[in-house]
Amino acid sequence: MSGVVVVGTQWGDEGKGKITDFLAEKADVVVRFQGGNNAGHTIVFENKKFALHLIPSGIFRKETLNILGNGMVINPKALIEELEMLNNAGIKEINLAISDRAHLVLPYHTILDKLYEDLKEGKKVGTTNKGIGPAYSDKASRIGIRICDFVDLDVFYNKLNDNITYYNKIFKLFGKSELRVNEVFKEYKEYSIRIKTYVKDTGILLNKELDEGKKVLFEGAQGSLLCLDHGTYPYVTSSSPTAASVPLNTGISPMFIDEVIGVTKAYSTRVGEGYFATEFEDEIAKRIRDVGNEYGTTTGRPRRIGWIDTVVLRHSKRVSGITSLSIMLLDVLTNIDILKICVAYKLDGEIIDYIPASIKDVEKCIPIYIELPGWDEDITKTTKFSDLPLNTQRYLNKINELTGVDLGIFSVGPDRTQTIVLKEMYK
Ligand code: IMP
Repeated sequence: MSGVVVVGTQWGDEGKGKITDFLAEKADVVVRFQGGNNAGHTIVFENKKFALHLIPSGIFRKETLNILGNGMVINPKALIEELEMLNNAGIKEINLAISDRAHLVLPYHTILDKLYEDLKEGKKVGTTNKGIGPAYSDKASRIGIRICDFVDLDVFYNKLNDNITYYNKIFKLFGKSELRVNEVFKEYKEYSIRIKTYVKDTGILLNKELDEGKKVLFEGAQGSLLCLDHGTYPYVTSSSPTAASVPLNTGISPMFIDEVIGVTKAYSTRVGEGYFATEFEDEIAKRIRDVGNEYGTTTGRPRRIGWIDTVVLRHSKRVSGITSLSIMLLDVLTNIDILKICVAYKLDGEIIDYIPASIKDVEKCIPIYIELPGWDEDITKTTKFSDLPLNTQRYLNKINELTGVDLGIFSVGPDRTQTIVLKEMYK
């Protein structure tokens, strides 16, 4: 086996960072394939905490090649800041390749992100304000600036000039300050010079690694329900965080994907707007938020809390071909008397087992729950499934049964040693 994909099965923040970090140790190559610095995860390495937003988690090991794939939108300023943060922490050998086909996130994208959100008034998506949507819009409109343009300073200047001239007209219309092309160019030229050494045709590079049988880990950002195509549109991000997105966004054949790990919390969370069927807000939700430290890594926003939803998990399984589940933050559910699991929805009096396309219908879905008794034993030191309290085992077995996906990994705490692997991902 050589290609393993890690995807989020919910609305992001499932703890993918921990799993990717864990698997990155065994991988020869770690690849980000979509999104940009809207993502974020915290990695604890040699007792130091690092917040990574763009760079894959294999960066701490000099022998691991880290790739930013063609499907990403890259903010060069944020990338340089991340590289500097690593450098200041003593990580000097950076084994990084940036796709020459990836797109840039530039200052006008972040201004537009906020402007578009403000114009939506009561209908905001609740974006991370990192310019992700506008950068992907430019890509689709064929006015995006790619990394290959960025490192050719004449091309970059001309394209930047065209786009700033174009967007300044919009900024003027809405009373925003206009950007000066020479100022932006002066700043970004420095970033271009600094990243040039990492720019490659990563599609060719990655195919070579796979042909040689190297172990490749594809690190998804966000979650399946935030997918532009298969998520709860319009309350989604602007890329596809599914396993189906990997070949397109990295330039490899789908045949190279051997294993898809669906990462899920033992409950659910969501940041930003959009209906969330199993959401609840009471003392238990507050407890989960506090114990699970459910605040956004990128924006610091408190996350919305809900029970685990197996309609969502089955949907994610279908769109990504999930081969094993990784259930995270199980310890956060300790000391809750009754745990609920959503098994289906009721829509207009009818029981359904899918997520409707229309947001109007999604908002009418009433979750149908089963209830299981909780546990109050400390599970944070558990190292084996069979050592878990019986009620914890029953809870995991029920999720396994309702999703039809085997449990590959479960996690009982933030430390690497609290990650219990039931199925080896790289043979
Ligand atoms: P955008 O990706 O900034 O355009 O935001 C679109 C939606 O995706 C918003 O609801 C964000 O809160 C959500 N989102 C984007 N990135 C993440 C993430 O890494 N974790 C959780 N939610 C995210």
